[in-house]
Amino acid sequence: MASPSAFSRLNLLLPKPSLFAANFRRTQFHFFPTLSSRTISSSSSSSSSSSSSLTCSSYSNSSMKELQNPTPKRDNHFVVLGIETSCDDTAAAVVRSNGEILSQVVSSQADLLTKYGGVAPKMAEEAHSQVIDQVVQEALDNAYMTEKDLTAVAVTIGPGLSLCLRVLPWNAQQFFLHYAVGVQKARQIAGSFKLPIIGIHHMEAHALVARLTEKDLQFPFIALLISGGHNLLILARDLGQYVQLGTTIDDAIGEAYDKTAKWLGLDLRRSGGPAIEELAKEGNAKSVSFSVPMKQHKDCNFSYAGLKTQVRLAIESKKIDANIPISSASKEDRLARADIAAAFQRIAVLHLEERCERAIQWALKMEPSIRHLIISGGVASNHYVRSRLDMVVKKNGLQLVCPPPRLCTDNGVMVAWTGIEHFRMGRYDPPPPAEEPENFVYDLRPRWPLGEEYAEGRSDARSIRRARLHPSLTSIIQASSQQ
Ligand code: KG4
Ligand code: ZN
Repeated sequence: MASPSAFSRLNLLLPKPSLFAANFRRTQFHFFPTLSSRTISSSSSSSSSSSSSLTCSSYSNSSMKELQNPTPKRDNHFVVLGIETSCDDTAAAVVRSNGEILSQVVSSQADLLTKYGGVAPKMAEEAHSQVIDQVVQEALDNAYMTEKDLTAVAVTIGPGLSLCLRVLPWNAQQFFLHYAVGVQKARQIAGSFKLPIIGIHHMEAHALVARLTEKDLQFPFIALLISGGHNLLILARDLGQYVQLGTTIDDAIGEAYDKTAKWLGLDLRRSGGPAIEELAKEGNAKSVSFSVPMKQHKDCNFSYAGLKTQVRLAIESKKIDANIPISSASKEDRLARADIAAAFQRIAVLHLEERCERAIQWALKMEPSIRHLIISGGVASNHYVRSRLDMVVKKNGLQLVCPPPRLCTDNGVMVAWTGIEHFRMGRYDPPPPAEEPENFVYDLRPRWPLGEEYAEGRSDARSIRRARLHPSLTSIIQASSQQ
């Protein structure tokens, strides 16, 4: 059985802090001794854990009462710095608890993306390390603040890109080092300025940012989260209470966009998605026929590996040469590429439409009061995706909520905001020590489901190595509230 410290970075256990930053910082908390960190040993690294092995304390009653009140409170008492280094962008933002975005800085690794045609973990880590200090400083400066004005620091601690994770052992932290750049920076600031720290689930942050932009968005709602590494359909019943309706059995849609763009010789500087979206406008989506994935599986899971193969074969059969950039392609060549881009996008999005339609039926059975379906994650900034899903959602009597594109792609605002939502509930870690021991290993969570799987939705097509999963965020929160 794993020790409690193995699951502790997102501390869900502490009494609700004073909401006033100054008071809060003067308060002496008595935290659970090992909760803030762990040093990974060979025994803990193999902790293929189940939620039953969690040892957690309870929320205070007042926190539990607030948990049942889903309306986001719009106080402005505290200010959180959010740091995000989970993929190819280094991002930081300062957000006030009333939802005011005081600053937002994103440094992108566009050149690396173009050079390597995707995210190379080692390169990404180096690039994050080079700019992290500057990005955080700029976020503070733009907010006209110093670290002393902050109430807490929030930072993404998992999960990793699903693509990498299929080949990753549980403890292969070296493939996950780009996360550590952000976590290290967050811990340095929190340690030096005695600030609480909040570990954030990247996909929860993509979902919850919709509550910042849509002030009346209340639980329960459905979220379709579509990015480069993840495809998730969830029912968000309450803060931290998620049911996973569907996930991808192989590649995420963003990965399929990126590869299609690469094979079509498109300019990848803004990543593949926007390049395909642009080019698709010039093409005929019905001129190439691709089949919609997983038609025979009546569930809400996704698969994009097969569509990728169909696209690759079509590109080969039309003798499109990715080494000739689209900017130098002949008129016919450009049109052939545009047709493939349009046909790919149509089918990729049809797959989303079918799954969302079913997810709405499932979710309404569990929570008839649902009014909204939100879409977020990098792919949700795509206008075609938005308009197609808007039709599906409206047809089912719901309303679509899409954060603005700059908050759909990875950013620090979503991390800071999710930190604010959890901080209000008393879920945070105490300030780390000012000096971290040299052998300190950060508690990063490469395989960290957001919620428990919807039992009726389990698919035979999925063969995820469950033993290597970290307990889901929801199971951690539930375990802590039951004690
Ligand atoms: O959420 P995100 O910024 O990072 C991850 O968590 O993965 O998503 C990045 C993904 C990339 O695959 C990128 O190609 C895709 O989002 N993306 C788009 C668009 N903008 C970004 N895909 C389609 N259309 C877009 N306009
Ligand atoms: Zn993301």
